[in-house]
Amino acid sequence: MEKSNGLRVIMFPLPLQGCLNPMIQLAKILHSRGFSITVIHTRFNAPKASSHPLFTFLEIPDGLSEAEEKNPDVNLTITLLNQRCVSPFRDTLTKLLQPADSETEGAKERITCLIDDTQWIFTQSLAKSLNLPRLVVSASNVSFFLGHFSIPQLRPLTYLPLQDSEKDDPVEEFPPLRKKDIYRLLDGESETLDALLNLIYKTTKASSGLIFVSCSEELDHDALIQARQDFQVPIFAIGPSHNRFTASSTSLLAPDETCIPWLDKQEDKSVIYVSFGSVATIKESELLEVAWGLRNSEQPFLWVVRVGAVVGAEWIEAIPEELMERLKEKGKVVKWAPQQDVLKHRAIGGYLSHNGWNSTAESISEGVPMICLPFVWDQMLNARFVCEKWMVGLHLENRIERNEIDRAIRCLLLEAEGEAIRERMKLLKEKVGASLEENGSAYRSLEDLVDQIKSF
Ligand code: UDX
Repeated sequence: MEKSNGLRVIMFPLPLQGCLNPMIQLAKILHSRGFSITVIHTRFNAPKASSHPLFTFLEIPDGLSEAEEKNPDVNLTITLLNQRCVSPFRDTLTKLLQPADSETEGAKERITCLIDDTQWIFTQSLAKSLNLPRLVVSASNVSFFLGHFSIPQLRPLTYLPLQDSEKDDPVEEFPPLRKKDIYRLLDGESETLDALLNLIYKTTKASSGLIFVSCSEELDHDALIQARQDFQVPIFAIGPSHNRFTASSTSLLAPDETCIPWLDKQEDKSVIYVSFGSVATIKESELLEVAWGLRNSEQPFLWVVRVGAVVGAEWIEAIPEELMERLKEKGKVVKWAPQQDVLKHRAIGGYLSHNGWNSTAESISEGVPMICLPFVWDQMLNARFVCEKWMVGLHLENRIERNEIDRAIRCLLLEAEGEAIRERMKLLKEKVGASLEENGSAYRSLEDLVDQIKSF
């Protein structure tokens, strides 16, 4: 931990679990390098200030009604937040930038920049008008960030039914996605998304730099080269470094801490961890297929079912009592887990994952091989990377069926193919770990970022 350098960074996370985690992770990294941190945040999904006593938190009203907060349409939530946070954010930021009273502690510090999410599209012009440099954070990996700007152009592809013969065709504009992935990715995404993407592109290009907190040269080399050409702004790829900092205290839901003592009782690399993240939902019939798949595999499991994740149900009441009794013989079902601690645990042998980028990066950081069941957005691309580029996982190709799940779990935990996957994951973990060491690519990129922030 370096001593204070007299500089303060203002951070403004997007209030979604998958975006909050990398932003707070970055705040921890910058704080360890001597920067003071102020987090401006919405009331909706506010981070827990008490978990980060060294940061200053300032809440702004976001104008979301209770019904709007519960709306599962993430793009709509982002659009509304971008409309309703404009004046409260402007007022708060302007006040912070006013010369401090010489008696106060803040008077000794200089505010260097704003760091916020690429999806905050109103902040670039505001920062410019206040003469404050703005850096942006992307929660995805570089390939997805680059490729997702081709969505408006790809949309017409999905107007015609997808023929069996073309399902696996590569999509040149959005590698390494296949045609069937584009159909799934765009399913339910309205054309209002296109305008949002256009603004994200423009405001990122106008920013002072782009940060990938959980990605590095080792994970996404070619896309980084392309992104530097396209955006012509400094791009920093500084991670993933989850295992270098204390596990996340940014959970919006209370993690069930009984997971760890339960894992302590299991054999090394014997448990399959199952979690579909903070956004994905499943049908009751799919819940039952997962339950049967886990039961039939006869392997120990730790399964996270978020409250609200099963459409039309409270929690897991659709699982018949008899099956539940049998599930309890081998496994544990919780509402939310301390995921980073879980993935770190010696008992975890595999992760049946939705492949959100944070979860994928956390799994790589801990060397845990995956079974991929992506649901939405960048998850499809992350799963292709895991299974086809790095070959550190098995792909379920959207088959939420008990036999497929049972087969994949056994293969990963018990068979030679699983052993080979585990070996490759071990090598990938080492490669990523080495990039964080002195003179590794992520290490150097972080040094560049720190220098850049100091230079503003
Ligand atoms: C969303 C999008 O769906 C995803 O595609 C995008 O990459 C980020 O935002 P989300 O479901 O939030 O993804 O997944 P992910 O990016 O993996 O983030 C989930 C975070 O919640 C992870 O950091 C994970 O450690 C944490 N988590 C998840 C827990 O702490 N406990 C849990 O039980 C489950």
